Amino acid sequence: MDSDIVMVDEKGKRADGREADELRPMKIEAGVLPNADGSAYLEIGKNKVLAAVYGPRECHPRHLQDPTKAIVQCKYNMQSYSVGDRKRPGPDRRSVEISKIISEALESVILTELFPRASIDVYIEIMQANAGTRCAGLSAASVALADAGIPMRDLVPSVAVGKADGKLLLDLNKEEDNFGEADLPLAIIPKTDEVVLLQMDGHMTKEEFDAAMKMGVAACHQIYEMQRDALRRRYSVTEEEEVEE
Ligand code: CDP
Repeated sequence: MDSDIVMVDEKGKRADGREADELRPMKIEAGVLPNADGSAYLEIGKNKVLAAVYGPRECHPRHLQDPTKAIVQCKYNMQSYSVGDRKRPGPDRRSVEISKIISEALESVILTELFPRASIDVYIEIMQANAGTRCAGLSAASVALADAGIPMRDLVPSVAVGKADGKLLLDLNKEEDNFGEADLPLAIIPKTDEVVLLQMDGHMTKEEFDAAMKMGVAACHQIYEMQRDALRRRYSVTEEEEVEE
């Protein structure tokens, strides 16, 4: 989309001061909800996301049970107060789509065959949104699953790469997303670089797409380190508590 808004200056700096390939400031904390089997809180830029995991537990309704493996049921929900214009509460087409793609990405890493007939329920709540919430939600959810002790092949870091002012930009913020030309959310399994989520809104040339994927995969590896750090911190706290008891 053409607009008069300048998103990248002549030195290549973005309006929020970032370089083209720089993530927004990010923070992850595991184990924030004692009631849940596993949980995580994640901030990236102005996004604030909570993920809670319950299970493996008996699958309801029972007709959804799979006798060969557990099913992964993710509910992505954007709170009414998470965006400037109040969002109508409850599911809509967008949240149903996001829930489905996140469930599928998580299902590809969870060892579901270990839990026949069970359900692994993942709740993602967006408390504040500023573009990139599906990626933030998925990154948080995989930490929450690990916190719940659910056997997985790996964590799933996720980020979007976009195009604005004709330039590829990592981790678009809301303004860049609104006025930019393309948005490419992706998620990988870092051990193999297998892509488990890939969407595209807008257009890129093949060369741009290849460069965007490279940028996104590198950033996913950065997020992966932060996910692992969050779990290490959580583990050492638990260990101290166990010693005290
Ligand atoms: O959040 P994500 O980038 O994964 O999904 P999107 O559909 O591309 O939405 C981009 C951004 O638009 C969200 O992060 C919100 O900040 C905003 N949005 C909104 O203000 N109201 C909605 N009903 C949906 C999205």
